[in-house]
Amino acid sequence: MTKRVAVVTGGASGLGWAICQSLAQDGLNVVIVDRNAEASARALELVSRGLSASAVLGDLTDLDAISGLAAGILDRHGRCDVLVNNAGTHIKRANGQRFAFEEISRKEWDLSIALHMTAPLLLSQAFLPGMKERGWGRVINIASRVARTYTVQGSAFYVASKAGLVGLTRSIAGEYAPHGITSNAIAPGRFKTP
Ligand SMILES: NC(=O)c1ccc[n+]([C@@H]2O[C@H](COP(=O)([O-])OP(=O)(O)OC[C@H]3O[C@@H](n4cnc5c(N)ncnc54)[C@H](O)[C@@H]3O)[C@@H](O)[C@H]2O)c1
Repeated sequence: MTKRVAVVTGGASGLGWAICQSLAQDGLNVVIVDRNAEASARALELVSRGLSASAVLGDLTDLDAISGLAAGILDRHGRCDVLVNNAGTHIKRANGQRFAFEEISRKEWDLSIALHMTAPLLLSQAFLPGMKERGWGRVINIASRVARTYTVQGSAFYVASKAGLVGLTRSIAGEYAPHGITSNAIAPGRFKTP
């Protein structure tokens, strides 16, 4: 009767918050990982509805801190059965437009690769061994429509990092299928969030 644990990155806002509510309503114990302190209030909101949730504050572009963050979750909850790599951001120019290809600097590139690819990789590596041991797990990666087809909205660093996340998803899906673990990417079109 052990309760399944879901770790949702970027769960303090937008799509991530919707995912947290849905998983908590399904009976999972939800751990919201976010750099936004609002994550704690969100977790309390779920608890006040009689659901199970807690928050872990952390910046997922701080890649050296991720193994400690994951170890803290495993220490406290003993497991992660569902990992949702949702935290993401599309850095835009001050006027809200995308960066043209030749304007892109290493800063945006490195941040996007860290947040959309390396953090999901490190979190997956931290939680997959336990899923494998229990013979069940889910890794859900929030990519984007821009990973699948060209649009005039996407900056190349965002597009490339989300396309990389789709490749990471495919690798996990293939390698872990024999262990009862599925991995899927969701590639939404544009929707209004904070
Ligand atoms: N909104 C859209 O139109 C759209 C379209 C396609 C894909 N997506 C993807 O959906 C996901 C959710 O987006 P959203 O629209 O809900 O955005 P949002 O800004 O409402 O929420 C993103 C959350 O991620 C957190 N986050 C961002 N950077 C972080 C970091 N470095 N460390 C920890 N937490 C961090 C933020 O604090 C926030 O709570 C993202 O991966 C985004 O790329 C969004």
